[in-house]
Amino acid sequence: PLKALDAAAIRARKGGTPLVCLTAYTTPVARIADTQCDLVLVGDSVGMVLHGMASTLSVTMEMMVLHGQAVARGLERALMVVDMPFGSYEESPQQALRNAVRIMAETGAGAVKLEGGRHMAETIGFLVQRGIPVMGHVGLTPQSVNTLGGYRVQGKGDDAARIRDDARAVSEAGAFSVVLEKVPAALSDQITAEIDIPTVGIGASAGCDGQILVIDDMLGLFADFKPRFVKRYADLAADATAAVQAYAEEVRARQFPAAEHVFTDAGAT
Ligand code: KIV
Ligand code: NA
Repeated sequence: PLKALDAAAIRARKGGTPLVCLTAYTTPVARIADTQCDLVLVGDSVGMVLHGMASTLSVTMEMMVLHGQAVARGLERALMVVDMPFGSYEESPQQALRNAVRIMAETGAGAVKLEGGRHMAETIGFLVQRGIPVMGHVGLTPQSVNTLGGYRVQGKGDDAARIRDDARAVSEAGAFSVVLEKVPAALSDQITAEIDIPTVGIGASAGCDGQILVIDDMLGLFADFKPRFVKRYADLAADATAAVQAYAEEVRARQFPAAEHVFTDAGAT
């Protein structure tokens, strides 16, 4: 078996073979992701994808810990990163440390991820200096949807310098990697060339040091909406709907259960 990956191993992949990353929220899906992924993120997207929330703002520490524990049981090789939920780290470096320690201790995560650039650099440094590997996240930061004015592309035109400065600040603060979300491709490539840590793109560029998608999106399982940056590699919602329909028809026709699904008095238990 391959050696388990830690944050330092991910960091060392800068400029190398692109990092393969996906989200996961449950043990069985984590097992599937682990067959190919270098990094599995327990994203706070769990609130929208599994719990039907309208944004990530209502996701709690308890949800991240519970899903982190589930995902940990399915991983052998990939680095598990757990998102810090909205409100769990912004107040102070001390608050961030307390909650990051809880996530690491209760889930076995190898790192945490938090959103924000320059304004979070002090906190990132504070955590890293105390033994907590941090993945940054700049560009579109969904926890700030209400101040960003929606889920729009970040860093267009004159706004590019803001995203570059954010990525640089996260890197200089000691993060081992950084997510670039919905950043124009040319700017993503420029940032990737400029900073010392791997960039992991989502709606960014094939030139990033890695890519990440929400697994339910790429499997076509989360069909509520499909952002431009999602490529569907399967259509599991359609497959599941067809399977449920076939089951319903067989139940109504008394074709299910068949002889092999039922028990006899003398046979197997
Ligand atoms: O919560 C999430 O799934 C994420 C990734 C898409 C980067 O933060
Ligand atoms: Na997230």
